[in-house]
Amino acid sequence: MTFLAEFDAAAGNPPAQVGVVIKWLRSNWPAMYAELRADRPILPTAAFTMVTRATDVLAVLAQPSLYSVRGNQRAMDPAVGPFMLARDETEINWEEKGLMRALLRWDDLPRVRALAGHVSAAAIANAVGKAGATGPRLDVVPTIARAVPLAIVQHIFGFAAPSDDLLRWSFATQHGMFRNSPFSADVLASCHKAGEEMRAWLKPFLAAKRAYAPSGGMDAVSRLIDISQAPAAGISPERVLSNVCGLLVGAIETSSQAIVQIIDQFLEHADWREAALAADAAGNIAAFDAYVFEALRFNPITTIQFRFVEQDRVLGEGTTYATPVKAGTVLAVCTGSAMFDAALMPDPDRFDATRPANAYLHFGVGHHECLGRYVGQVSIPEAVRQLLRQPGLARAAHPAGAIDFAGGPFPEHLVVTWSGGATAAKHCMVTRTDTTESAA
Ligand code: HEM
Repeated sequence: MTFLAEFDAAAGNPPAQVGVVIKWLRSNWPAMYAELRADRPILPTAAFTMVTRATDVLAVLAQPSLYSVRGNQRAMDPAVGPFMLARDETEINWEEKGLMRALLRWDDLPRVRALAGHVSAAAIANAVGKAGATGPRLDVVPTIARAVPLAIVQHIFGFAAPSDDLLRWSFATQHGMFRNSPFSADVLASCHKAGEEMRAWLKPFLAAKRAYAPSGGMDAVSRLIDISQAPAAGISPERVLSNVCGLLVGAIETSSQAIVQIIDQFLEHADWREAALAADAAGNIAAFDAYVFEALRFNPITTIQFRFVEQDRVLGEGTTYATPVKAGTVLAVCTGSAMFDAALMPDPDRFDATRPANAYLHFGVGHHECLGRYVGQVSIPEAVRQLLRQPGLARAAHPAGAIDFAGGPFPEHLVVTWSGGATAAKHCMVTRTDTTESAA
């Protein structure tokens, strides 16, 4: 049965229809979205209205005051205070996003890449060191996928809390803010508690940094403290605190899920992997990275961004499928569907790593485009590259070789094996002056 046949068969039972959507989202979103784009591009349900064509997805994300992120406030405000991803077209969006973008400097990116390479190579070498008769074996999630962004948060962003605390806060806040569906009051409470703990840890940490400012600004948090001392920056200690929290919340589970799902795609498609490795062997890092984000298109970390309709509107105005929506409606803006719409991605079912980088919606688009985009764009492919290079890389025997979410919102395990010794890239100590592509 097709998605729409199953959905329509549940007509008159709105919760059952929502259940059908959730079931297809989990089991076969490409087929569901393909059918919706062709036959019912805007689909109202009892829980949300789905927007599936690229033109409409982009139109919604381009109008933040009409289609807002107000829905994020319940989870975010008590945890981290008012923050850009729960506000639209306010001074927080304009001033703080601008300031934070300037502090996540592009001249850090070679260091970010080198650190991602270093952490991944160390995990690979460790697995080789412990290898038994059957060769090295490694669980990607704790050793690489979470370890890489964790190191970036600590050493590049400069949020230098203990690893276990950072991982716990990051998990609980991402879960409560962006993956709490169906809604659980316990998940929301854990999110708020994690935010409280994170702020309690940060307050003395930031105060000490402030006392010794200017620090010379070797990491993003130090730069933020330095710049916040200047009245011209116009940013209070409370606002500094919220923005430092946002750096952690955004970084770890997103990057981890992307790394895991990209590796999973390359394990599934030997030809994609060979092509990516050929680009790597030719020293063409940009081409390698393009393979990585094309692979992610086939299983992105999420296929939906949620928005809140602020005024009665007509979606798809002027088309045959124009659909009125009332103020207060929740929109499921299906970016994962838009990335398979020929209007945005010609010949969308074909794996094609030559697509323009700005066609991808992995990091959002418009007003809320990801603050960590350029960090993720180098750290994620570098972590993947180190592992892909291992000869005979394969899934461990079932079930360990499949992504295991352990009943939760994020990947917890994916075990791989390979045949020989490590061929991890040479890496050097990451220093503040290292601006070379040292992981190559
Ligand atoms: C590397 C560290 C990262 C940091 C510090 C970070 C931080 C942020 C922040 C602060 C925002 C909100 C921007 C705004 O409201 O103006 C955001 C948005 C977003 N981020 Fe990231 N992020 C990171 C990594 C990632 C990764 C790896 C992905 C996906 C692969 C991702 C996907 C997104 C998306 C899709 C949005 C837009 C959400 C929306 O429109 O509702 N982020 N990120």
